[in-house]
Amino acid sequence: MPDSKDAALSDLLTEDRRFAPPAAFAADARVNDAAIYDRAGADPAAFWANEAARVPWMTPWETVTRGQFPHVTWFDGGKLNLAHACLDAQIEKGRANKAAIIWEGEDGEVRTVTYRQLRRDVCRLANGLKSLGVERGDRVAIYMPMTIEAVATMLACARIGAIHSVVFGGFSAESLAGRIVDASAKVLVTADGGWRRGHVVALKDEADRALLHTPSVEKVVVLQRARDPFPCKMTPGRDVWYHDLVSVQPDQCPPEAMGAEDVLFILYTSGTTGKPKGIVHTTGGYAVGTAATTAMVFDLTDDDVFWCTADIGWVTGHSYVVYGPLQNGATVMLYEGAPDFPRRDRFWEIIARHHVTIFYTAPTAIRAFMKWGHELPELHDLSSLRLIGSVGEPINPEAWIWYHRHIGAERCPIVDTWWQTETGHIMISGLPGVTAMKPGYAGPPMPAIDACIVDDDGNEVARGSGTLAIRTPWPGMLRTIWGDDERFKATYFSRWGGRFYFPGDGAKRDEHGNLMILGRIDDVLNVAGHRIGTMEVESALVDHPAVAEAAVIGRAHELKGQAIVAFVTLKDGATAGTPGIGKTRAETCETLRQHVAAKIGALARPEEVYLTADLPKTRSGKIMRRLLRDIAEGRAVGDTTTLADPAVMGRLKDLYADTDG
Ligand code: PRX
Repeated sequence: MPDSKDAALSDLLTEDRRFAPPAAFAADARVNDAAIYDRAGADPAAFWANEAARVPWMTPWETVTRGQFPHVTWFDGGKLNLAHACLDAQIEKGRANKAAIIWEGEDGEVRTVTYRQLRRDVCRLANGLKSLGVERGDRVAIYMPMTIEAVATMLACARIGAIHSVVFGGFSAESLAGRIVDASAKVLVTADGGWRRGHVVALKDEADRALLHTPSVEKVVVLQRARDPFPCKMTPGRDVWYHDLVSVQPDQCPPEAMGAEDVLFILYTSGTTGKPKGIVHTTGGYAVGTAATTAMVFDLTDDDVFWCTADIGWVTGHSYVVYGPLQNGATVMLYEGAPDFPRRDRFWEIIARHHVTIFYTAPTAIRAFMKWGHELPELHDLSSLRLIGSVGEPINPEAWIWYHRHIGAERCPIVDTWWQTETGHIMISGLPGVTAMKPGYAGPPMPAIDACIVDDDGNEVARGSGTLAIRTPWPGMLRTIWGDDERFKATYFSRWGGRFYFPGDGAKRDEHGNLMILGRIDDVLNVAGHRIGTMEVESALVDHPAVAEAAVIGRAHELKGQAIVAFVTLKDGATAGTPGIGKTRAETCETLRQHVAAKIGALARPEEVYLTADLPKTRSGKIMRRLLRDIAEGRAVGDTTTLADPAVMGRLKDLYADTDG
């Protein structure tokens, strides 16, 4: 018998249950008039021109937008500087002594910097980078823990017109090296280490291994975060301590006047080949897009303490830890460590301690919180919260309702925001003072965003499911892939005759115009909100000397959304027991899992590896991953008529059943 709470839950989960904006919230919301959609839809250029007034232009722009997919410009002719917009412009608005960042280290240390202090820190580092020879247009790689200095490094690059390329601290030396080489970064800014679950992650050691393969890097700046007694080797002539570099620099550094279409940053993300793509974002459109969406979606006001839990190594950290909230003059909460250290209520403790008002996190985290129990948030006073958000993966309705009840206390609106590294800023989301939110649906496209659903032939689907497509350019869209414009055009614009931008997601629309994102439809996985290409993992596996072939798929996972499962064929003669790959089957699988983690980073470690004598292939040799997914998810195996050897499936099913049991 379901208890009354379960009954209420199933009632909330009915397909058409919508949650109107709470009246108290809507009354004061920055945007509370649905007319914004019609106004923006009727004249998107005028809408964006109006939004561009949020940005402190050094020279006014001339044209809102020019060109069509794939190559467009926004706010051409305009000059601006993002560090100036995030710091100086805020100081001029009277925010000099306002907290720009409240930082909490995993070890409990708390530091707050005001806008004025942050500008000083950024200027010193900007001067320091210049003294190392960094010039406008040069690339600077950043491989750092979540610290105020990491944010300052991004802004210091922006201040002098250097292009930053942040690499998530969880990536391996090899991944870091690949990204540094691709961008020919001149300087790497890193740290001795960062804290994670009470241990130091030795970033500099990892960076040193990468630096053996990165001839472009002339200087390495090292933040002392883990400190004594953590050992850290410094290479004379190349490596310099962050504190030594900045201590001798002047407090002022005039911001470079950057063209709207000058590159602000490169951020690598996984695609359908083994090689990550360097997504290129420029300055003007990105500034307008992040400033506007932060204000509209998060209803940010001067009193808010905004906490986006993403690492700055991901686009969410770029747009909604750094550039969006600082351009809006908010106070940003920054936390270095894990959500379950020292206990599983760390996040709730942080919200209560620092009076966080807006909290933005990923469904994977929400599902973990759910599993850990609502008793934990109940230990803390979360009454400062007024809006909560979700990003990075589809949020299942059960997790949505839990979030709404136990974190939002049924009074905070939830924004489920769909966007990508490539889009630069939020594209699909309800507006919290306007839109009725529906669990599982990200909501309607943002004002002036022209998203639709199309079938395989590129015909628009009014209702029901299909492929998500964007019809017209938007300010923060990627401009190219670093060094590979052909890949840019082929990846995003080769379908449907170049009429749409192709994001790679499936979606469905309800009768109210809300879009539900159904997940990736290409060979890209979304594991705990992290994007990983199946080909990347396959290349890492095949790199092992004993591996002949590998096929990687994503299997539905209760917490992570998807888990990585690999089917591996060993080379002739290699069996479990061959030296170097383990004595038993289990040891061999473990060796291969660790091999992937070492090659790419722990985030890509397969959940399971199955050793198999053969893989399901078509007569032309293409591996049929769809059939592997059927096996891994325990479904009836689909059509096998195109297989070169249909008997493979029976053998694989037996293997899977054996290993699983
Ligand atoms: O599949 C979509 C999923 O994350 C992909 C983009 O990943 P990335 O570039 O790493 O950026 C993540 C953070 C913006 C998308 O193609 N995704 C992102 N947000 C959502 C989502 N899926 C469903 N709902 C979302 N709100």
